[in-house]
Amino acid sequence: MSGVSKDEFKSTVETYRGLHAGEVTARTTRYAELVNQYYDLSTDFYEFGWGKSFHFATRRHGEKLSDAIARHEHFLADALKLHSGMKVVDLGCGVGGPMREIARVSGAEIVGINNNAYQIERGWKHTRTERMGDLCSFVKSDFMELPHQDETFDAAYTIEASCHAPDRVGLFREIARTLKPGAVFGGYEWCLTDRYDENNARHQQIKKDIEEGNGLPDIAYTWQIDEWLKEAGLEVIRTQDLAPTSEVPWFEALTGRDRTLKSFPRTPIGRVVTNNATKIMEKLRLAPKGTTQVSDFLNAGADALVAGGQQELFTPMYFFMARKVQPN
Ligand SMILES: C[S@@+](CC[C@H](N)C(=O)[O-])C[C@H]1O[C@@H](n2cnc3c(N)ncnc32)[C@H](O)[C@@H]1O
Repeated sequence: MSGVSKDEFKSTVETYRGLHAGEVTARTTRYAELVNQYYDLSTDFYEFGWGKSFHFATRRHGEKLSDAIARHEHFLADALKLHSGMKVVDLGCGVGGPMREIARVSGAEIVGINNNAYQIERGWKHTRTERMGDLCSFVKSDFMELPHQDETFDAAYTIEASCHAPDRVGLFREIARTLKPGAVFGGYEWCLTDRYDENNARHQQIKKDIEEGNGLPDIAYTWQIDEWLKEAGLEVIRTQDLAPTSEVPWFEALTGRDRTLKSFPRTPIGRVVTNNATKIMEKLRLAPKGTTQVSDFLNAGADALVAGGQQELFTPMYFFMARKVQPN
């Protein structure tokens, strides 16, 4: 369980929280440590409460969360026109839930990039179990510095992962480098909307709690994504916040309105129960010291996501699609 040893767990939690108590620059310069610590600490919680795809989704009335998540993945595969014979890269692939689903529906061969060793270990395990090893593989790498040669990929995508990057233009340039001319790059970004008021203390607190609860150095505005894609030399084809198109709010699964047994760990009551269970397990030394603190900041992050979503200050689904320009 978890990517951190029992002895190091508490100090890892403290270093992580210290980075969030300081300035943005500390988080952007030490982003690899920040993100890795976050996912070492939280991956088991994610798999328990959410599943193998670590992202939100637009949702139709009566649609199960797992179906909505798969449909969100299919939307991207369709938009990028992925098909068999293509070599595709998934940047920040988690434990590979989206990669396996997208490979299954499109037939494309996908390489998942992830800087977190524990998630890659989990990802290989799931990939073997689901017998998807012929189409899906993992490479442990920082997506800011890909080990691939120029013009390797026919398409690239990223799902709720580029928000962890310390410098979006640097990341988008690196992706452009590895794409073949004319190839497309798309994804879903976590963003502040125009309703976010940087002088409003409540808004600032929501942003801070989302950052700490989700391992983010800083959150950008939607318009900045458009600018940064262009600055990286990509041609922007489409950008759209999909949150307003969702029949059921994307944050519904965190509010407790989903009354199924499976959804229980995600609900406010379920999160309190999990939190109390971690306290008891810590006391009995069944869980390492610091586990409750992780549960606390994940819960504060979840509450802030709901508040940000309800007030429409924040979206986890700013969809973008861009193309590497063909040389004349
Ligand atoms: C919210 S998770 C999303 C995972 C996956 N896309 C999904 O939807 O299931 C973000 C992922 O980005 C990865 N990540 C963050 N920063 C990274 C970096 N600099 N290089 C590679 N992967 C990174 C994390 O390890 C994590 O797997």
